[in-house]
Amino acid sequence: MQQCLRIIGRQKTSGSIKINGAKNSAVAILPASLLTGSVVKVENLPGITDIHSLVRILSALGAKISYTTETSLELDLSGVDSFYPPPELVNQLRASYYLMGSLLGRFGQVDIPMPGGCDLGPRPIDQHIKGFSALGASVDLEKGFIKIRAKKLKGAHIYLDVVSVGATVNIMLAAVLAEGKTVLENAAKEPEIVDVANFLNAMGANVKGAGTDVIKIQGVKELGGADHIVIPDRIEAGTFLIAAAATGGEVLVKDVIPKHLDSIIAKLKEVGVEMDIGLDSVLVKASNHLIPSDVKTFPYPGFPTDLQPHMMVLLTCAKGTSLLTENVFERRFRHVEELIKLGAHIKLEGRSAIIEGGHELTGAQLQSMDLRGGASFIIAALISEGETIIRGIEHIDRGYEKIEDRFAALGIKIDRIVQE
Ligand code: EPZ
Repeated sequence: MQQCLRIIGRQKTSGSIKINGAKNSAVAILPASLLTGSVVKVENLPGITDIHSLVRILSALGAKISYTTETSLELDLSGVDSFYPPPELVNQLRASYYLMGSLLGRFGQVDIPMPGGCDLGPRPIDQHIKGFSALGASVDLEKGFIKIRAKKLKGAHIYLDVVSVGATVNIMLAAVLAEGKTVLENAAKEPEIVDVANFLNAMGANVKGAGTDVIKIQGVKELGGADHIVIPDRIEAGTFLIAAAATGGEVLVKDVIPKHLDSIIAKLKEVGVEMDIGLDSVLVKASNHLIPSDVKTFPYPGFPTDLQPHMMVLLTCAKGTSLLTENVFERRFRHVEELIKLGAHIKLEGRSAIIEGGHELTGAQLQSMDLRGGASFIIAALISEGETIIRGIEHIDRGYEKIEDRFAALGIKIDRIVQE
């Protein structure tokens, strides 16, 4: 038996929705709290399974955690006394790799299983390890475990070979309590990295340059407590903007930072979507004529890879030929074979997908294999004729809180059912 989503197509989104806190910020900030022995408060957390998993992991390490509101946690880290997170919990989410940087920073050692990962192609952590080694740690891989030891972490000049969000954050976490200065070059510039740096600085760290490709960290002796509000989730916001554009509805997406959505807004305008941009909101107006376009994903501030599947669905509605190139992950096209089951005309050539838009889609059984692909299937189902069943929705629940309730706020009916 498994949970599925059942969606009858030809539904139009309309209404307004408040965006949740950013998953990819929250899953770094909770592990980062291990760097202090004090008490921290984190607000605007999304209610997703990745967060629940991290609460279990931190509790197992000795943290005392309580929900002060539905979206706020208070964490007392004074009792954290272990550098060995429970493997069965660690394997539940890829972002558990942030436990490496934070436990290494706090205790000088950590034993953790190799992180799993979505089906986006190979997801190495060689750049994370390069950073830890540069800071003076020894890193051994044995029987699927990573064992990291460091008598003393010392600041270093590190040049990332690949622009990596995870490696940028993890090296920051390991460096804030290291002795001396660390310079991290070719760093990723995502807003979530800035959010983590702001949290670290609120605890007393000295991190400068987050959001640029050079981050400078002056090690400090210890960190204290802090209160932090997680930034809005630009990927969740983009999901609803694209859903509105695809279904032809009028939707107000609230509590966003429009600056973080620049590349998405620019591309949607190019595709013919009309929008009003407010101080902390974006209004998508009903759009009935979409224009084929070329999209290339790149690290921030480029078009985000996490919205590539959703954009692909939108481009199936634009009559003509569109080209979508995935430059961040090697194989982030598992969703294509599923979209073709709906009748989409998509051809893969290397890192590019050629989309012949304008063909009617018809509902089918789809298998979600990763978080964002799964979310894009909801949009695809809404623009298809007839019934679509989406399986593997545990992936979607990892990154979107009660997705059917979120869409219900926009007048969309999605049933969560149980199937063989
Ligand atoms: C983060 O993954 C996000 N996950 C991903 O979101 C997001 O797609 C990705 O950044 C890119 O923006 C979290 O923040 C938890 P990378 P991450 O390291 O850190 C290569 C979602 O759906 N690379 O920036 O794993 C890597 O193979 C998820 O929310 C190395 O070669 O991504 C990839 O091709 C999916 N060596 C590229 O860099 C390394 O040591 C970018 O990966 C690390 C990465």
